[in-house]
Amino acid sequence: MTETSETIEYTIECTDVLQCYPDKKGGLFTVLNDIDIRVQSGTFLSLVGPSGSGKSTFSRLILGSEPPFRGQVLINGQPVQPPDRNRGMVFQSYSLFPHLTVVENVMYGQELEEINFLSKWVRPFTYYKKKRYFKEKAMEYLDRVQLSPHADKYPFELSGGMRQRVAIAQAMIMKPDILLMDEPFGALDPDTRESLQVFLLEMHEKTKMTVLFITHDLEEALYLCSRLIVLSPFYVVDSGTTQGSKIVIDIAYPGRHPKSLDDKYTPYFNERLKMIREKGFNPDVRQHIGDFNLEHSDSWRTLSSDNGESNQTQAE
Ligand SMILES: Nc1ncnc2c1ncn2[C@@H]1O[C@H](COP(=O)(O)OP(=O)(O)OP(=O)(O)O)[C@@H](O)[C@H]1O
Ligand SMILES: [Mg+2]
Repeated sequence: MTETSETIEYTIECTDVLQCYPDKKGGLFTVLNDIDIRVQSGTFLSLVGPSGSGKSTFSRLILGSEPPFRGQVLINGQPVQPPDRNRGMVFQSYSLFPHLTVVENVMYGQELEEINFLSKWVRPFTYYKKKRYFKEKAMEYLDRVQLSPHADKYPFELSGGMRQRVAIAQAMIMKPDILLMDEPFGALDPDTRESLQVFLLEMHEKTKMTVLFITHDLEEALYLCSRLIVLSPFYVVDSGTTQGSKIVIDIAYPGRHPKSLDDKYTPYFNERLKMIREKGFNPDVRQHIGDFNLEHSDSWRTLSSDNGESNQTQAE
């Protein structure tokens, strides 16, 4: 750790995290192997990696919907708990309730948390007062995502981009410490996608929440991030056998965050893209475990894994 680390707030800290699942032969196969990472509060962290490299698995560990097989996941310094309001999630497919209107969808989380539905009959005045307040708040968020004119529509009446904006408003209104986004713009056309990228950056600037953003689009990942990590199963170790993915690249994007759209056209941006593509995605270019590009100042590795695969377990 650096000398100043005591004053820095880390929203996410993973130490020696290993995740594996049952295989068909009754054994286990490793998906994530020895993941060490700490993420400062307010970071916009992009996560990329080849398909099947464990990106969604990693986000589930942070969400707390499954425990790691081994290792420790801390959220705000505490062992991760089952999903709660501090971790919001936005998926690629729209997670809206089809039978609720746009505004009702956005109100839903707060209602569930704070309204006792029985009081509708017992204390109707308090109930309706609270509901009115939640509706006003929901309208504020819909305004931010430029959807207030569509508040009373149902999800099926909206375009894909609009539905995704509702899903983002739905997650944001709960003011989570961490917003987890798993390919949130994957199903959108390029124009809608770009406008939502800009929107997301604006929201991030205002709220300063920590964002974990998973995408297949490297350009999108690099444009949005203040930090970027690559999970990859393509690496080599001295023992010859590798199991699961590791963080093979961990870089900060220097300079102002958020970037301007023009950044995408700079030589620096394109050089970084090339490096990520080559070292993180090309099965023919496997870095040795000792040569990973862990430039980020918060990047670290436990010693055990620096010797190769000496810390492998029965998970193999
Ligand atoms: N609950 C589970 N049970 C068994 N295997 C699983 C489970 N979840 C994920 N896997 C396996 O773990 C590996 C990683 O899956 P994961 O969905 O995390 O990858 P990903 O990087 O998100 O892939 P993609 O880019 O295609 O979304 C895959 O081989 C997948 O089949
Ligand atoms: Mg996935």
